[in-house]
Amino acid sequence: MILSPSLLSANFGRLAQECQELEKAGVSWLHLDVIDGSFAPNITFGIPVIASLRKQCGLFFDAHLMIESPSRYVEDFARAGADLIVVHAEAETHLQRCLARIRELGCRAGVALNPSTDIAQLRWLIEDLDLVLLMSVNPGFSGQKFLPCAEQKIRAVRKLLDENGGARIPVQVDGGVCPENIGKLVQCGADVFVSGSAFFKFPPYDKRLVEFQQAADQGELRLAAQVCSEWKPRQA
Ligand code: DX5
Ligand code: ZN
Repeated sequence: MILSPSLLSANFGRLAQECQELEKAGVSWLHLDVIDGSFAPNITFGIPVIASLRKQCGLFFDAHLMIESPSRYVEDFARAGADLIVVHAEAETHLQRCLARIRELGCRAGVALNPSTDIAQLRWLIEDLDLVLLMSVNPGFSGQKFLPCAEQKIRAVRKLLDENGGARIPVQVDGGVCPENIGKLVQCGADVFVSGSAFFKFPPYDKRLVEFQQAADQGELRLAAQVCSEWKPRQA
């Protein structure tokens, strides 16, 4: 499994050091929660912060855009150094075009679904997708409680992808993930796990990473998990 710690729970007074410490601890992905105060409550950080962190570390940048009409900004996020750009289905009218553009820019393309969004539209995006992000809380803040109905949704998405030529597409879960529930989420079919509060509140980071990994105890890797474990930062 891949753990993608969410920078939203890091110490904003020392972001570069936090990134470097994560890298030293053996973390490979960094989840960047960009929120515009319109698509979701809260205003976090954006393009200049990401561009500046890009120069400070070699983590795989997983940019989760919780912004309205994200297609307006995908070029900027690609230029800032995002490796994976995930846009919300609820925020973009021309989703297929947006995903295709993200790939043209040399990035991996992902779609995120809010807890109440139906999964059916994924069926028509499989050719254009590198990852599906399922929200297990309503977007906006870290530290919220995992919504249990996400488990069934992970199973349903894994099945939909596998039955329609998308076995290579990993499923990412975001919100309320912790060592206590990660094992179950792996069994449901998730491959990539975002963690904010349950990761950053329990340093040292190297030990905490091992706790997540041991709790995930995945046995043999699914194809989708193997695929994304080989993704590397573009500039490395
Ligand atoms: C919520 C964000 C999440 C959040 C996760 O809007 O997308 O990535 O930071 O934080 P925890 O793991 O604390 O729920
Ligand atoms: Zn997120």
